[in-house]
Amino acid sequence: MQQQINCVILAAGQGTRMYSSLPKVLHKIGNKALLTHVIETAAKFAPEKLLVVYGHGGDQVQSHIQETLPEFSIGWVLQEQQLGTGHALKCAVPDLSDDGLTIVLYGDVPLISHATLERMLDIYNDNVVILTDTIDNPTGYGRIVRNLDGQITEVVEEKDATPEQKAIREINSGIYILPNKYLGKWLNSLANNNSQNEYYLTDVIKYAHHQGVVISSVNAANHYEVSGVNNKLQLEQLERVYQISRAEQLLTQGATLLDKNRLDIRGDVTVGKDCVIDINCVLSGKVILANNVTIGAGVILTNVSIADNVTIKPYSIIEDAKIGANAIVGPYARIRPGTELSDNTHVGNFVEIKKSIIGQGSKINHLTYVGDAIIGKNVNVGAGSVTCNYDGKTKYTTTIKDNVFIGSGTMMVAPVTIGENSVIGAGSVITNDTPDNELTIARVRQTTIYGWLANKNKK
Ligand code: UD1
Ligand code: MG
Repeated sequence: MQQQINCVILAAGQGTRMYSSLPKVLHKIGNKALLTHVIETAAKFAPEKLLVVYGHGGDQVQSHIQETLPEFSIGWVLQEQQLGTGHALKCAVPDLSDDGLTIVLYGDVPLISHATLERMLDIYNDNVVILTDTIDNPTGYGRIVRNLDGQITEVVEEKDATPEQKAIREINSGIYILPNKYLGKWLNSLANNNSQNEYYLTDVIKYAHHQGVVISSVNAANHYEVSGVNNKLQLEQLERVYQISRAEQLLTQGATLLDKNRLDIRGDVTVGKDCVIDINCVLSGKVILANNVTIGAGVILTNVSIADNVTIKPYSIIEDAKIGANAIVGPYARIRPGTELSDNTHVGNFVEIKKSIIGQGSKINHLTYVGDAIIGKNVNVGAGSVTCNYDGKTKYTTTIKDNVFIGSGTMMVAPVTIGENSVIGAGSVITNDTPDNELTIARVRQTTIYGWLANKNKK
């Protein structure tokens, strides 16, 4: 039976224990806000309604989500005072569809999987489905109370539990599927006469049981799926769990990782065949590795597309760039936004390239700055050369045509064009365009002052 699916994400809590001015749900795992993880998981159901109950830092939360997930249509529900989880869901009821079901999620429980929620949906039959977990130390959680037949009868909060109930190790994750047709009635019945004076969402379990509605349960496949983030310690723990799962994904897709514990993925990574990633790399944004790409230790890639047979040597940093087939980059190269290295290029150590196109087979191997440049094919830029692209106000282009040899230590004062098949003598300061097919040298002629030293020593 296909029912209308509603998802409500409770996210109004303050997050005091994060000791941060950022709302808790905007803290990140894998560089993605906690709330974003949950919204993306919920969105996989293509729900009729996707609602977020917010309170603290509402503007900040909404603008972050609208910026990062502009394609999702989210209903924002304000819970002005945080009077409890039951009150939070009640605030959303007017926006839910009358029929169908509601999946309740938490903005600070980021790693709940689509697969686990699917298992809950599979057994849903116009009843209550609760996600539970069985853990060694249940302190702090609501406990699942079952009768002698094993049926769930209620959830008791830690602070309201008897010593016997506290010994129960099956806990409430706080994630449920609830039938909309009963929801309004149940939530209107909530009272706050408990030890925390809160309107507990967990009380609906008791009401459902009294009404004869079956409460089924699904056990979480992994503990981390129901783990919440309340402080930076838990945030770091879930970050590690998440990173290992991302690394394992790459391994199962055929990548070779020298150590799955020493890779950080903060975006989307695709790998072709026979890619090898050494330790301590950080891959952010959209990273595409084609086939047979080797990434050395300590490499940082952000929004980079790398073609076949490329080697990125250790400690290179590449951002918003395209690297052509068979290129060799690094060690210690810095490739900045807007750069395109064509096929068979070599960029060596301590070379910085910004917003430039480097033609096929060209080599820039040592200690060089190339910015706002268009470099042709088979060019060799000698060590210590600089495109002087900035006069303090404006950036200018340096163009180097095909088959040019730039001697070491050349300053090219842009705007300037170096003619094709030409040679620039080492140490030149080039301020005017140079002709094709010729040697150009622009430096003071070498002189020797004979006798100068002998004279000085006499005095
Ligand atoms: C809740 C459950 C508990 C369960 C635990 C799992 C209740 C009464 N208890 O307890 O059984 O074991 O989660 O982690 O539901 N929130 C709001 N508005 C509020 C209060 C909370 O939006 O007024 C949101 C919070 O931002 C958070 C979530 O609801 O995302 C859970 O709130 P929290 O205060 O952490 O509930 P617990 O006491 O942990
Ligand atoms: Mg909690």
